[in-house]
Amino acid sequence: MLTEKGGALFGYTDLYGGYDGGQAQYVRVPYADYGPRVVPENLSDEQVLFLTDIFPTGYTGIDWGELQPGQSVAVFGAGPVGIMAVKSAMLRDAGKVILVDTLQYRLDKVAQLTGCHTILWKDGAKDVITEIRDLTEGRGADLCIDAVGFEPSRNVFEKAKAVINFEAGSVKVLEACMSAVRRSGHVSVLGVYPTTYDNFPIGQFFDKGIILRAGQAPAHKYIDMLMNYVADGKVKLDDIITHRLSLSEIAHGYDIFNKKRMTVSRWY
Ligand SMILES: NC(=O)c1ccc[n+]([C@@H]2O[C@H](COP(=O)([O-])OP(=O)(O)OC[C@H]3O[C@@H](n4cnc5c(N)ncnc54)[C@H](O)[C@@H]3O)[C@@H](O)[C@H]2O)c1
Repeated sequence: MLTEKGGALFGYTDLYGGYDGGQAQYVRVPYADYGPRVVPENLSDEQVLFLTDIFPTGYTGIDWGELQPGQSVAVFGAGPVGIMAVKSAMLRDAGKVILVDTLQYRLDKVAQLTGCHTILWKDGAKDVITEIRDLTEGRGADLCIDAVGFEPSRNVFEKAKAVINFEAGSVKVLEACMSAVRRSGHVSVLGVYPTTYDNFPIGQFFDKGIILRAGQAPAHKYIDMLMNYVADGKVKLDDIITHRLSLSEIAHGYDIFNKKRMTVSRWY
């Protein structure tokens, strides 16, 4: 069913067709002759689980950025989407891959898995941008990926500013991407921005001739190709799994994910 948005998404409320999300014991599958894939017998559920969303999403950011072998990539956000963008960059033979987050434990985990360079965002964006420039011969990264969206960690001042501007969240990570990218470089926005923002960095966008892509990832475009990469052992996805919970504990799972906790009360 098409909607006023011109398309439909699972789990995105009535705005996008009212299709329930897939995290349930049973789901209604519209266009079942198109959406599902046959998974090769030799692949486990965990090996292919992330092909449904975060891996194609991360890969989209790299593909939109037209990344060439040897080019540098700075990914903002070490959540599942950002981690998959890092893995995708490496699949595409990126040169330097830099990952930025406000949480050291997430950076440590990804550095251990992939060997990427990490930067902790502590106070403001300035230090992060300087470090990215230092790592890229002063030019800035060829591609910056915003895998955070409109809900970055914010201080009281930033929250008050959003209230005064009648804005939801902040575009600070997008601004940082625009600053950290090289002139004529690419910025891919995977993190969600749901509304309008007065402070959209149009000055940087214009001045540097930035090539900007954003939106929901066209996952179907990539799933078959990416499944082959998994089957061929060119990329491993299930190494990011930290916890295994039963479906009856899904609320608890979301709670610890939402609060970005490292530990759960019970392990499986
Ligand atoms: N475009 C798409 O098709 C698509 C698909 C899936 C998810 N998403 C979106 O991608 C975004 C990321 O998803 P996720 O599941 O990885 O979420 P997540 O919340 O796990 O990850 C976001 C990360 O950003 C970090 N962060 C916060 N402030 C930061 C800052 N100033 N600088 C750097 N990092 C900062 C957080 O610590 C966290 O690790 C969300 O907005 C999500 O809705 C988009």
